[in-house]
Amino acid sequence: MARTSVKSREKARSVDDSKVTMTEIVLPQHTNALGTVFGGTVMSWIDVAASVAAQRHAGSICVTASIDELHFLKGVKQGEIVTIEANLTCVNNTSCEVMVVVSAENPIKRTKFYTTKALLTFVSLDSKGVPTPMPPLITEGAKQKTLEKQAKIRRDHRKKLKAALLKESKELLS
Ligand SMILES: CC(C)(COP(=O)(O)OP(=O)(O)OC[C@H]1O[C@@H](n2cnc3c(N)ncnc32)[C@H](O)[C@@H]1OP(=O)(O)O)[C@@H](O)C(=O)NCCC(=O)NCCS
Repeated sequence: MARTSVKSREKARSVDDSKVTMTEIVLPQHTNALGTVFGGTVMSWIDVAASVAAQRHAGSICVTASIDELHFLKGVKQGEIVTIEANLTCVNNTSCEVMVVVSAENPIKRTKFYTTKALLTFVSLDSKGVPTPMPPLITEGAKQKTLEKQAKIRRDHRKKLKAALLKESKELLS
């Protein structure tokens, strides 16, 4: 049975309404033995930025359901500044996809470079922890429309992947 709630009847919200821009500076406690940022720290920043975007849109608590593969293309050194930008690409029923783009800059050299991109799915929960519908997303312009279309395709892929993982987990525990 389709889930409905007050939220699903709430006014649709634009991508910009929930956009998040987070800035961090790479401090000694964020680095690995090479003096570049530790991957897990960047993953945590990504999850925080995406979670804020999802919750701003949903108006409810949202949990991370999945994170697609991550590739770190360039290391970020201690003292460099990291910008984490999160935007919703698509809202389905109780879930949404958030795209996070991470870039970095060296303030002394005045250089800026791309580090990674992440795609996360969040599920909106009600006070009992049950998935609950989110308000619809308004996508504007060619770029947002294309991202939304691509997100719908990725959603179908994730559903198949989740079914396979559930099957595998039963086999692993038997
Ligand atoms: C995410 C979670 C709430 C989904 O619960 P569930 O009972 O499996 O929910 P359903 O099968 O009814 O799916 C609800 C929605 O989540 C989506 N979803 C569920 N699992 C997903 C996954 N692994 N990846 C992407 N989307 C997923 C479904 O597609 C559905 O979306 P829709 O309503 O927009 O169509 C549940 O698996 C959970 O609590 N996981 C742990 C979350 C967590 O602790 N995260 C880390 C810390 S925040």
